[in-house]
Amino acid sequence: MPSIAVLTISDSTVAGTREDVSGPLAVDLLRAALTPDRLLHEVVDDDPGRISAALIRFADHEAIDLVVTSGGTGISPRDHTPQATRAVLDYEVPGLAELMRAVSLQKTPMASLSRAVAGVRGCTLVVNLPGSPKGVRECLESILPVLPHALEQLRSGAGH
Ligand code: MTE
Repeated sequence: MPSIAVLTISDSTVAGTREDVSGPLAVDLLRAALTPDRLLHEVVDDDPGRISAALIRFADHEAIDLVVTSGGTGISPRDHTPQATRAVLDYEVPGLAELMRAVSLQKTPMASLSRAVAGVRGCTLVVNLPGSPKGVRECLESILPVLPHALEQLRSGAGH
């Protein structure tokens, strides 16, 4: 069973002015679909250094198999999630982001505004999701069928 971390990335949640609905939703969807043996959930603001540091900690020190972020993928100056993710990846898995975008575009043209990326650091798969609960549900549901095989590939490559 995989270990999973959900990282909510939101200035307003950290400031206490917005309730985090998307993070707990991602936790629920991932728990139901992948029955992880460990599931962490943390919240960080939109600071790129803190986002990258959290991803590095999950991958390198907590041995997390799958990190799912929510928020900060848009085009405002305070949206840093894709670049902070890319900065710590060993390589991207563009097909996962393409799949999320392709499915999402069937539902809303606003999906074109998400710059979400996916990729691998060490043996950890990192996937960005948008910040809205609707975006979390739609994007996660589009990639859930692929995730078990993706995680299996990473685990077998690591000799697990
Ligand atoms: N993707 C899906 N599937 N459903 C959505 O409702 N919202 C979009 C987009 N992706 C959306 C979506 C919107 S409105 C924005 S602004 C971008 O994600 C970026 O969101 P973020 O900055 O909260 O990450």
